[in-house]
Amino acid sequence: MVGANAPAGEGWSSRTAFVLAAVGSAVGLGNLVRFPAEAGANGGGAFVIFYVFCVLLIGLPMLLSETLVGRHGKASAIESVKRVARESGASPLWSIAAAVGMVAAFLVLTYYSVLAGWIVYYIGVFGIDLGNAVGSGTLASGALAGQTVEEVQSILPGLQADSTTMLTMHGVFMAITILVVARGVTSGIEKVAVWLMPSFFLLLFAITVYGAFTGAFSAALEFLFSFDPSRLLDPSVQLSALGQALFSLSLGSALMITYGAYASRDINLAKTSAQIASADTSVAIIAGLAIFPIMFAAMTPAMLGGVLDGTEKVQGGLGLLFVSLPVAFQTMPAGSIIGFLFFIMVFFAALTSSVALLEASVSYAKDRFGQPRWILTLLLGGLAFAIGAWASFSFNSQADFHPLDLLIFSGQPVFGILDELTAKIMLPVSALLLAIFVGWVADRQLIDTENGLDGAMHRTWLFLVRFLCPIVISAILLFGLFPKLLG
Ligand code: PHE
Repeated sequence: MVGANAPAGEGWSSRTAFVLAAVGSAVGLGNLVRFPAEAGANGGGAFVIFYVFCVLLIGLPMLLSETLVGRHGKASAIESVKRVARESGASPLWSIAAAVGMVAAFLVLTYYSVLAGWIVYYIGVFGIDLGNAVGSGTLASGALAGQTVEEVQSILPGLQADSTTMLTMHGVFMAITILVVARGVTSGIEKVAVWLMPSFFLLLFAITVYGAFTGAFSAALEFLFSFDPSRLLDPSVQLSALGQALFSLSLGSALMITYGAYASRDINLAKTSAQIASADTSVAIIAGLAIFPIMFAAMTPAMLGGVLDGTEKVQGGLGLLFVSLPVAFQTMPAGSIIGFLFFIMVFFAALTSSVALLEASVSYAKDRFGQPRWILTLLLGGLAFAIGAWASFSFNSQADFHPLDLLIFSGQPVFGILDELTAKIMLPVSALLLAIFVGWVADRQLIDTENGLDGAMHRTWLFLVRFLCPIVISAILLFGLFPKLLG
């Protein structure tokens, strides 16, 4: 039976369900918010190229390593690594690799839900606007017709200044996440993935086609794929790209180990990993090809020229999705519909990721404390809500509170620290330890029977996991955190 001997009898009901759930966990705000924001902030092309390199040479081999440890261990991430370590005659302390990842996933969830709360709010803004457009028969024209550009630009700052609304939206999103996870793997997480992911792909396809026909498509292509080669060697661009690749593929976060544990023995993990990595990377790039043409369409030719020749910075960061894009929707044909569908699409992606982020620690708590799933889900989700609420004050009352003024954290409020700490330190550290564990420590035969590879593919994978992943991740971590080492 599929899913037999999975943790506490839970498991995916088919291979398709596993792939959809794993793709659902990978595709999220990382692809739709973080990727374009990082690409914008790091100068476009150089970041994108280094990113693809990280996915192929680090992300893909790590994805297979994590899912195979989970599938062999058949338990929560920490327990799975312990089991593989024990069977390999190694120290169970290797499970620290998964523990770092699990804590990272939990911390990502705290601020992820705040951001997803903004998405919920924007669905409301565009939903009301769509209603008005239907009422007034102006569906074919731009969105938010009654508002000036300044008013649209102030939607995000207005929301950020209003803690009550922000916390309500964050609470709504977290509550939905808790409801899904509390229902369990098959009837909660899997159901949501099976329904939402295909809808997500349809929406993404429609919006990209729309952007290609109505937006500045060729400018977007140029921005995303042409680059200044010297920036390829910039350690901060490299650290950003590595962090983004791990973040986007949900690696180094105990998550793929957790999902792998619910996969049945007859699934070919190598093939599945390749599908997950290619789906996730395609979504990031396609999302860029949907978002940038729309955004560039709203720019004056002079501004756009400046962005493309590097003299003007495109709005990186969160402003890209929450400020520039709504302004663009104002002037786009059928802007209300497209704006509404756009934020629904982002919501679908965010939910299938947030359930995975919560499940990583819920599955551990179940293994460890044996309490009913719904109680643990409620407790952990509640705690994540509280920490997220604190992080949300970074946008108003605690904007000037910088509790960790060093390295990449200097000048960052709590929200930024959570993001940088997880993406640029904890995920790489967890991935690094797991690469060493799978490549050097775990029993060879155990690994070889799980990974579904043979011949040259197997040798390549082993080489990447043993040498390239640990060396490259360590180097990027070191030079990204201490750029002065390079002189
Ligand atoms: N991969 C998901 C995204 O891109 C979320 C995630 C981030 C999951 C980090 C795990 C770790 O949005």
